[in-house]
Amino acid sequence: MKALILNGSPRKGGNTTFVCEVISGLLAEKYEGIETTVYRMQELTVAPCNGCDACKRNGGHCVIQDDGTKVAEEAAQADVLVFAMPVYQSGVPAQLKVEMDRMYSKGGIPADHKPLTYVVTIGADPLEIEHYSLIDREFSILCPYENWDYRGYCALRALEKDELRNREGVKEQLENLLNK
Ligand SMILES: Cc1cc2nc3c(=O)[nH]c(=O)nc-3n(C[C@H](O)[C@H](O)[C@H](O)COP(=O)(O)O)c2cc1C
Repeated sequence: MKALILNGSPRKGGNTTFVCEVISGLLAEKYEGIETTVYRMQELTVAPCNGCDACKRNGGHCVIQDDGTKVAEEAAQADVLVFAMPVYQSGVPAQLKVEMDRMYSKGGIPADHKPLTYVVTIGADPLEIEHYSLIDREFSILCPYENWDYRGYCALRALEKDELRNREGVKEQLENLLNK
């Protein structure tokens, strides 16, 4: 079994990184022998989709040769997919959005293989503010197109870098997410 976790934060050692560490541990507890890969998108080279639509004529292969294609291919093979991100300007941060656009190459192709897909969003604003649910809505529409089995999202509130690391109950919230 394979899991792919995409960390959309450019902040090293911040809240999203902590969430990714906890989720890796939880997946290891939940699925014996699971191989988990975590990518911090900031460290990869991912060009924006150029809209050439070659992928729609060649069976779903992006013609751009960079990390974005590698990640899209790995996502298509994964059994579990996790998108973890800070909220940026009310939405998905660019570091992750650019990869989501590149995953267009795999969309719309019927497939039996449907990775369980989870989203974690971390923002500084109160959890009642709509941007968390906007990201949830975005994934609930995107996942069927990508043939991903969207299981849900978890919104966490934090501003400072170490805030979640020092808070009790986060592991339980993430465990609840993975049980959806
Ligand atoms: C460019 C930028 C935009 C942000 N926009 C929002 C926002 O729209 N809503 C919000 O609640 N928090 C916003 N934040 C706060 C971050 O989401 C928050 O600090 C989060 O904990 C950062 O996670 P990280 O430590 O993993 O980077 C923004 C932060 C930055 C740097």
